[in-house]
Amino acid sequence: MTILFDDENNSNKDINTHSSKKKNENTSLNSIEFDSSYENNIRPKFFNDYIGQESLKETLKISIEAAKLRSKVLDHILLYGPPGLGKTTLAGIVANETGAGFKLTSAPSLERPRDIIGILMSLKQGDVLFIDEIHRLNKVAEEILYSAMEDFSLDMTTGKSQSVKSIRIPLPQFTLIGATTKAGSLSGPLRDRFGIIHRLEFYTIDELVKVIQRTAGIINIDISGDAAKVIASCSRGTPRVANRLIKRVADYAIVKSKLGRIDEKISEQALKHLNIDEFGLDNTDRMLLTLIAEKYQGGPVGIETLAVALSEDTKTIEEVYEPYLVQKGFLERTPRGRKITAYALECLKLDNKYQAQQKLF
Ligand SMILES: Nc1ncnc2c1ncn2[C@@H]1O[C@H](COP(=O)(O)OP(=O)(O)OP(=O)(O)O)[C@@H](O)[C@H]1O
Ligand SMILES: [Mg+2]
Repeated sequence: MTILFDDENNSNKDINTHSSKKKNENTSLNSIEFDSSYENNIRPKFFNDYIGQESLKETLKISIEAAKLRSKVLDHILLYGPPGLGKTTLAGIVANETGAGFKLTSAPSLERPRDIIGILMSLKQGDVLFIDEIHRLNKVAEEILYSAMEDFSLDMTTGKSQSVKSIRIPLPQFTLIGATTKAGSLSGPLRDRFGIIHRLEFYTIDELVKVIQRTAGIINIDISGDAAKVIASCSRGTPRVANRLIKRVADYAIVKSKLGRIDEKISEQALKHLNIDEFGLDNTDRMLLTLIAEKYQGGPVGIETLAVALSEDTKTIEEVYEPYLVQKGFLERTPRGRKITAYALECLKLDNKYQAQQKLF
């Protein structure tokens, strides 16, 4: 079975539901190649390959089973949480596990009413429709979705002024899976139409070690347990980061160690080379924290000010950088702006004077 993925660039990619990349028999330096389908090859296709998020997996497995027993379609599902934690991957897995067709789109590409109507009318009984960034749906598309989700029908009006008629077009029963990094931005009526609402959590080091070992296996590079742990602890609790790092570290190992094996020393050297510190922070994280500490006396400072100073947009800071810094206890979001914590000052050995001052207050 093949799933069509409509990615961020709206291009269609084939994703085979079975692990498609065959391992090379012998690992030579040239045998490790990362083609453009790297992402597709490493994306888990079934629950068995999907590491962590145990309570969410359990909820989904039970719901899938119950839907099968009752011969009903699975409830609509809303998945939320920071980028790269596996929302899109999980939606594909739900389709694979139920044997359903899978349509993937994202809210910004459903600009005109006919976009959402077209996609709804193309669905078949039992299909899984995945809408990424669902908090960005416009009002018209959202209202069309209400009756589609609730009654599996499209309520439309035809004609003009006096002769306006409303018609109801039945749709096949389907499961909508919405994903968002900003659950708070979803309107109440839309949120209420999801039967299952679940937050994805950051991954533990042990879970990330498994993600790294699994990916290393797929790309056919040997990695020691200690090295996987070093990379895992720099992966910001996020499988997408773990996969990106293992790829970069593998590149480094191929070039630097003629054996093409990743050990602890090589992984530490590679991460240093990539400017990633032992807390998993990169240059932008450190610049952000240093800026708050040194230029704004530890904060609070507004997100817009930080964005301008870092030449980043506020969305990227809010959705990509901050969740990990907050989770790590390095940054506080207050109603008056962002504040650096005493713990961050200590870990990053920032301005001792400021640290002493902060302890006083
Ligand atoms: N539980 C997991 N086990 C193994 N690999 C995972 C897991 N979750 C995610 N991944 C890997 O991490 C990458 C990112 O996952 P995915 O694209 O599903 O994240 P996302 O939550 O949809 O991110 P975004 O919010 O940016 O759309 C995928 O390529 C996938 O291979
Ligand atoms: Mg996604």
